[in-house]
Amino acid sequence: MRQLLITSALPYANGHIHIGHLVEYLQTDIWVRFQKMIGNRAVYVCADDTHGTAIMIRARAEGRSEEALIAEMSEAHQRDFAGFGIEFDHYGSTHSEANRAVCHEIWAALRAADMIVEEDIAQLFDTEQGTFLADRFVRGTCPRCGSKDQPGDNCGSCGATYSPVDLVDPVSTLSGSRPEIREAKHLFVRIEKMHDFLAEWTQSGTIPTESANYLKNFFLHEPLRDWDVSRPAPYFGFEIPDSPGNYWYVWFDAPIGYIGATAEWCERQGEKLDDWWRSDRTEVHHFIGKDIQYFHTLFWPAELKTAGFSLPTQVHIHGFLTVDGEKMSKSRGTFIRASKYLEHLDPEYLRYYYATKLSSRVEDLDLNLGEFVARVNSDLVGKVVNLASRTAKFVAESGLSAEYPDDGGLFTRFAERGAEIAAAYENGDYGKAMRMIMELADQANPYVEEKAPWELRKDPAKARELQDACTVALNLFRTLVIYLAPVLPSLARKTGELFGETITSWSQAGTPLTGRPIAKFSHMMQRVDAAKVEAMIAESREEAAAEAPATAPEAKTREDSGDALAANPIAAEIGIEDFLKTDLRVARIVAADEVPEAKKLVKLTLSLGGESRRTVFAGIKSAYAPADLVGRLVVVVANLAPRQMKFGVSEGMIIAAGPGGEDIFLLSPDDGAVPGQRVG
Ligand code: 2FM
Ligand code: ZN
Repeated sequence: MRQLLITSALPYANGHIHIGHLVEYLQTDIWVRFQKMIGNRAVYVCADDTHGTAIMIRARAEGRSEEALIAEMSEAHQRDFAGFGIEFDHYGSTHSEANRAVCHEIWAALRAADMIVEEDIAQLFDTEQGTFLADRFVRGTCPRCGSKDQPGDNCGSCGATYSPVDLVDPVSTLSGSRPEIREAKHLFVRIEKMHDFLAEWTQSGTIPTESANYLKNFFLHEPLRDWDVSRPAPYFGFEIPDSPGNYWYVWFDAPIGYIGATAEWCERQGEKLDDWWRSDRTEVHHFIGKDIQYFHTLFWPAELKTAGFSLPTQVHIHGFLTVDGEKMSKSRGTFIRASKYLEHLDPEYLRYYYATKLSSRVEDLDLNLGEFVARVNSDLVGKVVNLASRTAKFVAESGLSAEYPDDGGLFTRFAERGAEIAAAYENGDYGKAMRMIMELADQANPYVEEKAPWELRKDPAKARELQDACTVALNLFRTLVIYLAPVLPSLARKTGELFGETITSWSQAGTPLTGRPIAKFSHMMQRVDAAKVEAMIAESREEAAAEAPATAPEAKTREDSGDALAANPIAAEIGIEDFLKTDLRVARIVAADEVPEAKKLVKLTLSLGGESRRTVFAGIKSAYAPADLVGRLVVVVANLAPRQMKFGVSEGMIIAAGPGGEDIFLLSPDDGAVPGQRVG
């Protein structure tokens, strides 16, 4: 008996599970169920990936603690997984004491191996939010091609890659403010120390050939770059024990969560962690998507090796999901949440459909909605369940024949195919397994048609023949369901109930059932209703549209309406010489007084630096209380001819925007400007 520790990637706690995620969890769950059925000891662990800036910012925006937020998300994730029949032996969290302890252990090992180095890093800091900004929280003008509103790491227009500090006019997407560059100490893992080990390990058959070949070139040409594993406070994560004020970067403690979750499972089961993570007896299998293979094929094995944990036996890597040939899209309604799917459709449909599409290769997988409906209806309902629905009722009273009848060798052929189908599951070639199972179904159905039990039942003299025909058909059906059980646990459960014997083991397919009652047949699977698929898409589209403005603040981009410009079109063109005639200066308001007799005016005393003072009457009373103005910087037209007004002489004009009334907005220079400086 093999002992297997199996994992899926830990889902981020800042988002809900959608049908893209489900490719991996279903792929893994099918493999785990298959392993359990063939008698291996398999333990499937997973956890929420809870740390990082995104969670911290969202918790702040929602006015609650990160702990409250991640607890709610964990519950939602587990509800979705359970809805799809994904059965973990343990579901934990990276924000657990068990995980913290393993992080400490691995960190100590990296320190002891002299693999940690420190370096000062310049990063953008959002002063309004009080946080350093990860690349995705910054947008600005591309330093290469000048395209505006580009992300913090690479330009969508010219493809240039850069550091966020190189962006021209960067803007924090968290607050809309201009971030400043700050230096902070970061800790790095010197992964290059493991170069030779990794070069060999990645070629040892542990990862798919496509990935191994890619990495081979990588190792030949360049040293491995140090990996930045710390983030300065504030950060939601674990504080690094020997570097106060610094936290492990979310990607440091995420994979360690595999061990942390196993530790919690061990604690519950009275098992020893070392039997699972430091023993040659246990195989470790990770299922991941191709986007995170770097973490799992370089950083992760390097850490495991250094800390004396088992290395992964196999990293199973899958591609991305497309829907009808395109990326999942909120506006098209194909970004479908797991919970939304479950409101409309049976999870077994998707389990089966994905299974038909999965292979051991690192390939993208397309959910073609038309094919989805047709395939499930034709294969599962038309070929498999139909075998039982057309026969079970005729043996409801008699039960199965006492001896298995002569079926021309059909059952034996079905049983013999078991090893080949099992091999396909083992290799992750679920598509091949499904094809083989459907080929068998294609042999069973002609048998039923030829025997035509619905005809036999009309003739009481043929009762025995009827019972035999149904006994054969139902046993063939049961064998198909045993082979499908890793994919369709609910169908397997109902089939077990029909026969009065739970399906738990692959070997059950080798022996037909005889001489036993058959329970009353109740519906095992409905046909897929295309209208429900459409309703699911329509609702996903509508909900995404309704949610868009309320999504996390980082997702907001500023959409300016253009109304202001339309209300007040641009004035006639002038030359630069005309503009330069206007002498704009930075000034500080040193006093602001009411002018009791004037409805709109405030009397301002401006400092242009040193002893230079100006009195300006400004029509801003409807928008500003005088007391709020004192001390702030403004921009003044300094060479405007003095104007005699009813209450005194006005020696300039301060600059403001807006239509008037309460909507008057004074312009202020950024921090750093000083009174007297010319603006232009
Ligand atoms: O890519 C992701 O969604 C990550 N949360 C996966 C983490 S997998 C593991 F390393 F924890
Ligand atoms: Zn560019």
